[in-house]
Amino acid sequence: MNEKINKIEALKKEKNAVIMAHYYVADEIQQLADYVGDSYYLSETATKVTADTIVLCGVSFMGESAKILNPEKRVLLPDMTADCPMAHMADADKIQTIRQKYDDVAVVCYVNSTAELKACSDVCVTSSNALKIVSSLPNRNIYFIPDTNLAHFIAEQLPEKDFIFNDGFCHVHHNVTKEEVSALKKRYPAAIVMAHPESRPEVLALADYVGSTSGIINHAAKSGSSQFIVLTEAGVLYELRKNNPDKEFFTTEPPQICSGMKKITLDNIISVLENDNEGISMDKALEEAARKPMERMLELSI
Ligand code: 13P
Ligand code: SF4
Repeated sequence: MNEKINKIEALKKEKNAVIMAHYYVADEIQQLADYVGDSYYLSETATKVTADTIVLCGVSFMGESAKILNPEKRVLLPDMTADCPMAHMADADKIQTIRQKYDDVAVVCYVNSTAELKACSDVCVTSSNALKIVSSLPNRNIYFIPDTNLAHFIAEQLPEKDFIFNDGFCHVHHNVTKEEVSALKKRYPAAIVMAHPESRPEVLALADYVGSTSGIINHAAKSGSSQFIVLTEAGVLYELRKNNPDKEFFTTEPPQICSGMKKITLDNIISVLENDNEGISMDKALEEAARKPMERMLELSI
């Protein structure tokens, strides 16, 4: 393994590349990455790095987002088949139908979506800024795509808005049931329950804290509790345990695993750096159209 890491370090220097990784990738990838974070952090950081090449260790919508925000940079995805099923769970034609049906409507697009869906939207959000951004919009009607669970979580906190829900979901988070959570709470009665808002409403109702991946990590660090039940992708446990060696973290059995994120390996990082290809590329008009809601997200997040 050390040999592979040394090779990656040498290739990074040679190609003037940085490695960015989401908290859901394998531990060894998080360990070697220059930047590790949640979806918002990765989008924002991509606009600030000065390297010519970004190796995005995550699923395809993350690579596309980095490219959309940095058209002049080379963005490499170590495995082009690393995809997020939820990113496709909305429909451009349906967006047009909703726009015709409702006048005062904003199409709010979770960044976990394809460039095509972003291009038809008014603003993008991530799980860490969705509440702030949606509450700042002047529109009364909000068509929130693609995630129904995140939409319901935000809608509950904004009774002044009328939400139109889409039926997309993240299978990794949606698979967890309230019965599983109740059993975990019974087993670890002193533990604080932390859940990601992509989880079902009845699961979120059992949580003490609901937040994005970074929100969960920050909450565990600040909390005076010593035990936590973590309801999100198991990759987050690496950062939680590293930052809090005296605290205990439990999760579902089997743990929640995103197979797309786990496609990123040391070997495919080496290959993508060695095979000097152009990386992610998309139609320029599409890239331009998708950039507007992404940039609006960055402006409204401040
Ligand atoms: P965040 O990174 O916003 O927590 O989203 C989680 C996720 O599912 C990323 O794919
Ligand atoms: Fe998509 Fe869910 Fe995997 Fe995130 S965890 S990339 S939303 S499938």
